[in-house]
Amino acid sequence: MARMEGKVALISGAARGQGADEARLFAEEGASVVLGDIIDEQGQQVASEIGESGGNATYVHLDVTNEADWKNAVSTAVTEYGKLDVLVNNAGILIMKGLEETENADWESIQDVNSRGVFLGAKTVVPAMRDAGGGSIVNISSIAGLIGSRYTAYGASKGLVRILSKSIAVEYGPEQIRCNSVHPGIIETDMVEGLIGTGDGRQSMIDRTPLGIIANARDVSLGVLYLASDESRYVTGSELVIDGGITVRR
Ligand SMILES: NC(=O)c1ccc[n+]([C@@H]2O[C@H](COP(=O)([O-])OP(=O)(O)OC[C@H]3O[C@@H](n4cnc5c(N)ncnc54)[C@H](O)[C@@H]3O)[C@@H](O)[C@H]2O)c1
Repeated sequence: MARMEGKVALISGAARGQGADEARLFAEEGASVVLGDIIDEQGQQVASEIGESGGNATYVHLDVTNEADWKNAVSTAVTEYGKLDVLVNNAGILIMKGLEETENADWESIQDVNSRGVFLGAKTVVPAMRDAGGGSIVNISSIAGLIGSRYTAYGASKGLVRILSKSIAVEYGPEQIRCNSVHPGIIETDMVEGLIGTGDGRQSMIDRTPLGIIANARDVSLGVLYLASDESRYVTGSELVIDGGITVRR
């Protein structure tokens, strides 16, 4: 049987990168998927492609900083597919600045999307998950949420996601609503194009990684799939690190 048969999932930031890949994988595994993003044309395109491949997918405009957008996304899932079982809080932005370079506006915008967006998403889906008899919230943090980096505001926003996930796990465990965080290393998507680059930059990323790999979106999606599905029914409040060993090297 498909690993997500009968599940309904909402994924934020699903128009490209990891979110789009998670939407494709979930649909292949039998889920009905609601994709949310702010880049509407690309999001519609991904949803259409999933539909053309025989999957169930609907795109909604979802700015994760906007509570009304979240309510609309959840009600779309319930109206179109009857319930909501899974939320992947995947949308995120990266600002590559250290402490002194970080402007107040940088700090506010990154916390708004990466932290407040996750809080709003989790808060909005809980009633629908309760109606469904339980659910799984998967919050995409980063290795920058586990160890220090030169990206001050980004790391702080992702560290918040880590502990928020554990608090949700404690509060909603008795209602069978699980919540886990995922901590990707360096994943080749548009977000880190400037960071990875080519030539020397790329090689130094590979050298920093014990497995010597720069990962792709599917490497993360497979972990997210596990946490979203009932295969992980005894797993909550955990941190799934998908980083080729970057955070365990000295
Ligand atoms: N790529 C990496 O190396 C890496 C590493 C660790 C963690 N992450 C995290 O993984 C997640 C996915 O990133 P990605 O690599 O696929 O990058 P990406 O830039 O390709 O995708 C991010 C998506 O989020 C969307 N988004 C941005 N602001 C939004 C908002 N306000 N509302 C809704 N959607 C919004 C973007 O439009 C985009 O589609 C992010 O949370 C990111 O921080 C990425």
